[in-house]
Amino acid sequence: MKLEEVNLYDLDTWEQRVPHDMFALLRQQAPVFWQKEPQGGPGFWAVTKYADVVHVSKHPKLFSSWRGGTNIFDLPQEELGQVRMMLVNMDPPQHTKYRRLVSHGFTPRRIAELEPHVRDLARRIIDRVATKGQCDFVTEIAAELPLQVIAELLGIPQEDRHLVFDWSNRLIGFDDPEFQTSMEDGKRAAAEMWAYAHTLAEKRKRDPQNDLISRLLHAEVDGERLTELEFDFFFLLLAVAGNETTRNLISGGMLALFEHPEQKERLLAHPELMPTAVEEMLRWVSPVICFRRTATADTEIRGQRIREGDKVVIFYISANRDEEVFDHADQFDIARSPNDHIAFGIGEHYCLGANLARMEIRVMFEEILSRLPDMELAGPPRRLRSNFISGIKSMPVRFTPERRRVAAGA
Ligand code: HEM
Repeated sequence: MKLEEVNLYDLDTWEQRVPHDMFALLRQQAPVFWQKEPQGGPGFWAVTKYADVVHVSKHPKLFSSWRGGTNIFDLPQEELGQVRMMLVNMDPPQHTKYRRLVSHGFTPRRIAELEPHVRDLARRIIDRVATKGQCDFVTEIAAELPLQVIAELLGIPQEDRHLVFDWSNRLIGFDDPEFQTSMEDGKRAAAEMWAYAHTLAEKRKRDPQNDLISRLLHAEVDGERLTELEFDFFFLLLAVAGNETTRNLISGGMLALFEHPEQKERLLAHPELMPTAVEEMLRWVSPVICFRRTATADTEIRGQRIREGDKVVIFYISANRDEEVFDHADQFDIARSPNDHIAFGIGEHYCLGANLARMEIRVMFEEILSRLPDMELAGPPRRLRSNFISGIKSMPVRFTPERRRVAAGA
């Protein structure tokens, strides 16, 4: 492959595979690469080296999340104004104040408290497929746990959780025709989600619970309650951020084990390697491909001149394979140590749900591998058509069916 052939926008490629060869070439020959955009977009700097992704992430005043948002594509001014109400699109000091409102809900202690319940949920998910001998890994296994957990944290009743699943698919799958026909449908999904959130908020105002919705309703920033719109966007971010990402990590991590059977055997023989295996899955899959920043002043990255207003896109998926940081970066090694991957980002916006996601992933794999150890691929996985989320839409698997459990909990 030659530099002239690089096109990070080509969704046909992303639908087939992660273009690691393209990123290797960029890291080597053009680590800060000017990518032209189709349809009259201004173009952007693609930042693909680990050290540069860290540099950009750690200078939020110079590389703003607020100014142009964090989406790779530019939004019309009105929409930009709206998405700026989301934590992920704020800069300090505003960001710090809003993050504080929810961060205590995600501390290691709070997450540890949740673990027995998450394990129970994971067991039930496996119960539903275990006797069938085959299933679709993505929809029947990987998608379920993150959805149920975040719904629970937010305070969404069990019977409504599949609504969140549908909204989340339509909101994030904007490039994939299977999930959504247009950007318009994404907006409709957001509107439906908010109408729902309002109804729930009314209930919680009357009857507060120990959930994030109740907390957001009573939260104050500089002595002021959140506006309705601020509440809506917080709800949307929390409802969506943890679903696709964790789902695709679980599916992508399982696929990595299928593609590296010796690593799967190793994990089965040494379950104590699970924590490092989870970190390696995060590095390997990097479900969030990239986020965008906008330069607020003229600057340089690795000697490349960047002008105020330029769009700068940081590719975690490439940083996590940087051969300058990771030995044998293109090898999947479940015992890798050290493993300073940045799949959760780094700096001010470091993933709020990282502790939660790690726990969900670990618990899910512990349950899968102990109960369905011979699970294998039963057909080709289908990838999501997106250059934002590296995802798998469906992945048929088969396994020796578990004999029906005689009594519940046996
Ligand atoms: C494997 C799973 C996950 C991955 C790979 C992931 C990845 C990321 C990344 C890369 C960022 C940084 C964004 C930036 O710098 O602009 C981020 C932020 C965020 N993540 Fe996650 N995430 C995951 C799971 C979750 C979960 C379970 C939640 C639960 C609510 C969550 C909520 C958030 C939120 C709210 C932010 C914004 C934080 C801020 O702006 O301060 N994520 N995530």
